[in-house]
Amino acid sequence: MGLRHGPDRRRRRPERSSVAQALVVAMLSPYQDAPRLPEGDRVDLRALVTGQWLELEVGPGRGWFLVERAEAEGRLALLGLEVRRKWASVVDARLRARGLGERARVFAEDATFALQRLEPEGSVTRVFVHFPDPWWKKRHQKRLLIREEFIGQVARLLQVGGELFVQTDVEERAQAYEALVAGEARFAPHGDLAGSARVAENPYGARSPRERRAISDGLPVYRLRWVRVGPAPL
Ligand SMILES: C[S@@+](CC[C@H](N)C(=O)[O-])C[C@H]1O[C@@H](n2cnc3c(N)ncnc32)[C@H](O)[C@@H]1O
Repeated sequence: MGLRHGPDRRRRRPERSSVAQALVVAMLSPYQDAPRLPEGDRVDLRALVTGQWLELEVGPGRGWFLVERAEAEGRLALLGLEVRRKWASVVDARLRARGLGERARVFAEDATFALQRLEPEGSVTRVFVHFPDPWWKKRHQKRLLIREEFIGQVARLLQVGGELFVQTDVEERAQAYEALVAGEARFAPHGDLAGSARVAENPYGARSPRERRAISDGLPVYRLRWVRVGPAPL
């Protein structure tokens, strides 16, 4: 008897400990299974969502812009890249629960790296970035999302005639974005007045959570829009 039970107990012990390990991992990082882009250097956007045209939001956070935009315009496909796994999981699940999962997805990705992997060039109609970069200290500059490389990647992905729309509640940031994009020949300002990127209202039938809060707190919202110009990619 003793001999028969001994080996069984030894076999069960590792099983119990691996289940316990899995539980600990699940408790410590409950969003470890957040949706990710397919692996590889090249990711075809057209394989991820279905629609007549494609729009991209970087940093959707709690994601209400994505949900409202997908509901407001039934023909478009929408993709979100959100570095926080929790929000990518929650918003992606919410889109599925509302029957929008075929047309709209959110992936847990750092856009700084993910954008480089996306293709084909010129396949995106709009890129939205709402209230990025809440970093003030000089040592946090390296965390900024909207930098030269980011603008270059957005220009690569946008089709000619496509739009980049950015919102912020900080005037200095709006000015910095204007100066940065002015250095990219593939963009021209596309605001309310000729030669300016400033737009008074959000024309997309959807608001981001931060935008809603800024409005209800009476804070100004600075809106900027550029159009992709230049020859279409070969
Ligand atoms: C201030 S919040 C604004 C959230 C949302 N856009 C809104 O307006 O309510 C900035 C968001 O951008 C995300 N973010 C920051 N850097 C990012 C990056 N490199 N790639 C993807 N998301 C990023 C943050 O996790 C956060 O959800």
